Amino acid sequence: MILNGGLEDHTNLRRKNNRIPWKRILVILCIFTTIIFLRRRHRLSLFPFKEKPPPIVPTRDWEHRPLSGCFDPERVERTDYNLTQFLDSRPRHTLNAGSNMKFEMECYDFAGTIRPDERYDDMTSSLIYHTYWRMDLLPFDQREGYTIDSFLATQDLSRSRLILWTNDAAGLSVTPVVAKYLMDWPGVFEVREVDVREMTEGTVLNRIEALEGMYDGSAWVDGDAVRLLALWNHGGIWFDMDEILTRDLGVLTEHEFVTQWDCRDDPNLILNGHIMHFRRQSPYLCEAFHIMATEPAPTPNSLDWGAFLYQKLYRRLMHGGVKPFSVLPWCFTDPRNCHDDISFPNPFEKDPGSWKGLNWSDPSGEGPIRDGRQHLEKRINQIWSIHLHNQWNRTFPEGGYIERLLEKQADELGVRKNKRNAYN
Ligand SMILES: *[C@@H]1O[C@H](CO)[C@@H](O)[C@H](O)[C@H]1NC(C)=O
Ligand SMILES: *[C@@H]1O[C@H](CO)[C@@H](O)[C@H](O)[C@H]1NC(C)=O
Ligand SMILES: *[C@@H]1O[C@H](CO)[C@@H](O)[C@H](O)[C@H]1NC(C)=O
Repeated sequence: MILNGGLEDHTNLRRKNNRIPWKRILVILCIFTTIIFLRRRHRLSLFPFKEKPPPIVPTRDWEHRPLSGCFDPERVERTDYNLTQFLDSRPRHTLNAGSNMKFEMECYDFAGTIRPDERYDDMTSSLIYHTYWRMDLLPFDQREGYTIDSFLATQDLSRSRLILWTNDAAGLSVTPVVAKYLMDWPGVFEVREVDVREMTEGTVLNRIEALEGMYDGSAWVDGDAVRLLALWNHGGIWFDMDEILTRDLGVLTEHEFVTQWDCRDDPNLILNGHIMHFRRQSPYLCEAFHIMATEPAPTPNSLDWGAFLYQKLYRRLMHGGVKPFSVLPWCFTDPRNCHDDISFPNPFEKDPGSWKGLNWSDPSGEGPIRDGRQHLEKRINQIWSIHLHNQWNRTFPEGGYIERLLEKQADELGVRKNKRNAYN
């Protein structure tokens, strides 16, 4: 027995040794799943210093490069820019809440705190909007028409007009969709051709060759240059053609601004120019031109004159002791660009079954917001734009939230057109 028992024990021991340690594997799997879940859902970085790539715009390099003097009062005096009014006056709205706004609905709620105020609404008596279409890449079609419609339906047309910049004004003007806007909205909508030579006159860019060859295969470098030149010459608000405006941007124009790239804090992608506001002959743009003129020419299809330029400029301004331009939080103009929890649903896919814990269409919730759709509509009213990130070939699903938004805008557009016709 003893021998037997010993043998048995021995076999058991061996078996034990050979047994797969399921418990341990399970624990390790759980840990990994939790890490992956946390990272995906909350964008939590467990090793914040290790995993981020080194910044493309290195601090050290930039600390020693001075501003070019665009903010010297004597120099500003010779331009149309009013330093006292635009830079030294106290702003009414805060555009940075001091938190990174990537949790819950705080970004949208913050956007909702910025409300129009009659006392100040005459601050900007006239506002020019700019956008850009390259004629040789894609046809200007209904999808692009939605962007123009959204401008006409949401901005204050008593003081606003829109310039659609292009590399071929004659061709674009006879495109059926565009021809209709020209006919229906004279004095509000116009098409203009980019003339680099004329638009760079009197700036340091007049002498640089990179502008001649700027037209790349994605309209990125030229798009980035055109927005800065259009704003330098006319001032106003820029928006890209791949967005649907949802709210009057006028309320934000006491600030000069670009937008936050997304909510993820990637050191290489911080600032975005898909919507921006600068005043005519703004010294901010003057400093941007200085960087463009003194740095190597941009790589085609790159962000050299976009995100990276804004970032360099931002750093230089602060280092040079100048109050930097503002940055709109991600959700203000790009509510798709954060983690799934708080981003808007994909505009090109069918509406989700639920949103933020509420069944999409079954009004069973409590309080004024009773279903997911209503909740989303509340958020749409707080923000200024839905950025579609190109995706030119995709269509909006039937009955989806974008289609409903466009229908609402079409109704408003009809009302505005009738009003206009009644005056004329
Ligand atoms: C600049 O703005 C200030 C404050 O609004 C105003 O008093 C002043 O007249 C303006 N200057 C010019 C040259 O328009
Ligand atoms: C939402 O409510 C409808 C109607 O009550 C129901 O058919 C559907 O399954 C619900 N959807 C989800 C995702 O709970
Ligand atoms: C979009 O569609 C056009 C024609 O329908 C095609 O020529 C083009 O390659 C497509 N682009 C993409 C990115 O799929």
